[in-house]
Amino acid sequence: MSNPSSGQVLSRAEYEEAVQTARAASGLYYGTGTAADAVLDEGADVVVLDDATYDQVVRDIAATEAEHPDWAVAASPAQVVGGDAGDVEHSAPMLSLDNVFSAEELAEWNASLGKRLGHSPRYVVEPKLDGLALAARYQNGLLTQLITRGDGVHGEDVTFAAGAIIGLPQELTQPLTLEVRGEVMLTDEQFTAANELRLANGDKPFVNPRNGVAGTLRGSKDRSYVIPMTFFAYQVLNLPDTYPGPQPDADSDYSASIALLGELGVSTAATSPAQIAVVDTVEAAQEYIDALLARRADLGFGIDGAVIKADSPADRALAGSSSRAPRWGIAFKFPADSRLTTLEEVIWQVGRTGVITPRARVTPVFVGGTTVTYATLHNPNDLARQGLMLGDTVMVLRAGEVIPRIEGAVVSARTGNEIPIEAPQVCPNCGSEIDRSQERWRCTRGRKCALPQSIKYAVARDCWDIESVGEKLVRQLVDTGLVTDVADIFTLTGEQLLELDRMGQTSVAKALGEIEKAKSQPLARTLTALGVRGTGRSMSRRIARYFATMDAIQAADAAAFEAVDGIGPEKAPVIVEELVELAPVIAKLRQAGVSMTEPGATGLQPAAEGEPDTGERLPLTGENGKPMSVVVTGKMTGPLAALSRNEMNELIERAGGKSSGSVSKNTGLLVAADEGSSKYTKAQDLGIPIETPEQFAERLEGLLPS
Ligand code: IVH
Repeated sequence: MSNPSSGQVLSRAEYEEAVQTARAASGLYYGTGTAADAVLDEGADVVVLDDATYDQVVRDIAATEAEHPDWAVAASPAQVVGGDAGDVEHSAPMLSLDNVFSAEELAEWNASLGKRLGHSPRYVVEPKLDGLALAARYQNGLLTQLITRGDGVHGEDVTFAAGAIIGLPQELTQPLTLEVRGEVMLTDEQFTAANELRLANGDKPFVNPRNGVAGTLRGSKDRSYVIPMTFFAYQVLNLPDTYPGPQPDADSDYSASIALLGELGVSTAATSPAQIAVVDTVEAAQEYIDALLARRADLGFGIDGAVIKADSPADRALAGSSSRAPRWGIAFKFPADSRLTTLEEVIWQVGRTGVITPRARVTPVFVGGTTVTYATLHNPNDLARQGLMLGDTVMVLRAGEVIPRIEGAVVSARTGNEIPIEAPQVCPNCGSEIDRSQERWRCTRGRKCALPQSIKYAVARDCWDIESVGEKLVRQLVDTGLVTDVADIFTLTGEQLLELDRMGQTSVAKALGEIEKAKSQPLARTLTALGVRGTGRSMSRRIARYFATMDAIQAADAAAFEAVDGIGPEKAPVIVEELVELAPVIAKLRQAGVSMTEPGATGLQPAAEGEPDTGERLPLTGENGKPMSVVVTGKMTGPLAALSRNEMNELIERAGGKSSGSVSKNTGLLVAADEGSSKYTKAQDLGIPIETPEQFAERLEGLLPS
């Protein structure tokens, strides 16, 4: 794969082909469609471009034109803003932005702008919102017209959509005459709701949120239902004199005009969850960008980068613009988090708790920094909702560290050879009936269906740590009926074990010894071993520490669970339901003498915001009384050498901290085995304390596992 940051110089034939491809795609990209919609019929092959591929094609064109200026075609896609013109003239051209792809490229751009201006400018840094550009005209405070970008000079009138756009009020709080420009998007929630609405009305679902905006603006005139969208502004313009009425100050800083828009009732990037930053240096801009990238998956809407813009109108005027893009601003593009590929197969999996989930196998595709071959499909009803077929061109989304998932199919790319996906009639694991009463299908045998997997999980090192119960023994225990749930492990007798294949006196004694030891594992381990749906290792630890005893956990209702960090209104009732289902197993564990308490936890509720904290100070309690965020990198040495990642996490949490995977300005401490890593450099840059594994072990003396 070519480096996305620099275009490749193409041969003449390749160049001409690239121009054709970009043109065909860009009408949809910049107009009311998207590149993902662009289906180019090249003989028998159907080519569909995702946005990352489109960007790359344009960069290749630019690189080629730089090398061979005489090849450049008129109105090349690298020079002009593409797209189909509508019939409304823009009050000023709607420009695009040039892109950078790395901190180095941003620093270079900053240096060249600084040179042009003769000083280093103050910047505003914002999210680069992944929707469609829209101009909204207000006259005397009333919303009068909505126009798409079109070719940048003329756009299409889409005023009919005005009532459906959150963030663009029908009336401003002051009777001003102005034009607001920004991005109209579907938030993640709006996207899901939109596809449900479409399917309920017999329409095809959208492939991704951006495509959804395009489709909504294109078709909503004659649709019987309304798809709500969201707008965030990034520009305000005075309108020509033909629009009477008071005007906002044309000479105000960008940050001030954004604040004014907020006061007028218009949503802006500053009022969005992403927020904006006003900074004096490119380094500070880069910090905002890094932090924004880390939060990308949690924003609730799509962004494809950050935008860095000079704040002062004088700087902007001095820098000027090319025909395509301003010189006072630049887009810092994030790695593509969605790509198009082909859905090859749907595999039905049965989890430890008997839940049956479809999993997609796709043609391998590089997305979000890794090659993706498998992606989640949520649940069977989602599959039906999305209307997917085998062979479909699908959008794979991988945001942050999140498991890749299929967003939707490009229905327009179908060839007629796609095959419907068949849902299983019976449990694919054991052939029993399927309980379809809930969103998530489940084998009617529940946990018993995948009992060997449940047992293997429960005896693993992270749970009860009963090493001598290996795979073959688990199989025998289940097949002979000696173990019918995870609690039965604790009532196994020497005689029973001696009856089994390859079990002599020594191995039996070893197994019984480990089982005995497992009885005193902390509650968090036992809770993990139970495999409560909706919880994993770290969530089980949080629950155990919060409630301190199994009695308290079993007595808790959904509202009580919601007080635990990371448990929301969706998860809480599932956990309660699971604990009811597991009550007989828990009773057996208790009977067998398995510990039901969490050492060190007092069951004291953590201080609510505004209340005095309990004053309890552990080695990793932050100065604000909250858990310190600790990042661990490299192979541990000294007293920590033998600890697994999970045991390190346990240790950090036992010491009052919380572990995190990436360094940000919120990191309290980095534990680094060596100095070479990028985390080390980043922590140094941010001035975050760094300790060696030995220093860290010393700090946590007394808390280390024996
Ligand atoms: S400023 C004169 N700010 O990205 C240029 N654009 O790739 C004004 N976009 O055309 C654009 N978020 O449609 C700006 N915070 C933001 C943006 C943003 C998304 C879009 C916009 C622009 C395109 C360029």
